[in-house]
Amino acid sequence: MDAITAIQQRHSTRRFNGESLTQSALKRLVDAGRHAPTGRNEQPWEFVVVTQADLLKQIAGETEHGRFIADAGGCIIVCCEETTYYLEDGCAATENILIAATAMELRSCWVAGDKKDYCDPIGKLINLPDGMKIVSLIAVGYNDDAAVPTPKRALDEVLHWESF
Ligand SMILES: Cc1cc2nc3c(=O)[nH]c(=O)nc-3n(C[C@H](O)[C@H](O)[C@H](O)COP(=O)(O)O)c2cc1C
Repeated sequence: MDAITAIQQRHSTRRFNGESLTQSALKRLVDAGRHAPTGRNEQPWEFVVVTQADLLKQIAGETEHGRFIADAGGCIIVCCEETTYYLEDGCAATENILIAATAMELRSCWVAGDKKDYCDPIGKLINLPDGMKIVSLIAVGYNDDAAVPTPKRALDEVLHWESF
């Protein structure tokens, strides 16, 4: 699948069939994340990959809108040192992972991290060192349902040539 097709086909999935992911698939996803651009090339990120059912359940239970993490094949937690551009950097890595997941025919969903109070208890669950922020939690796995793309605003509506 080429990059543009993966970008166009990516959409959030909040139901997973519980099938596990191979370690090499998870490594491939994190590898896509670490290739994202970062401000001043600081690469402030660390990626915590969770696959244990118990821990997935505990993390899911702490979130507001991420209960489905419990049924995912894995959860990639994008963490960053609190640098000037940590949020942009962590989000760029997150999007890379979502697109890579689509290209690998996996389903995924971005679950909010940064700004959420539940990052503290989740940080404790994964032994996150002080000073590190959780930017996002990415649920990833398989789902047998037909893909239902999320409607997007039309290109003509959002595109402005030369001036707003
Ligand atoms: C910063 C951010 C936080 C999000 N947090 C959640 C979340 O906590 N739970 C969830 O189900 N979806 C979450 N999403 C996914 C969005 O709801 C989803 O991307 C949006 O509805 C558009 O759908 P699409 O991903 O299928 O294009 C988040 C997305 C972003 C970018």
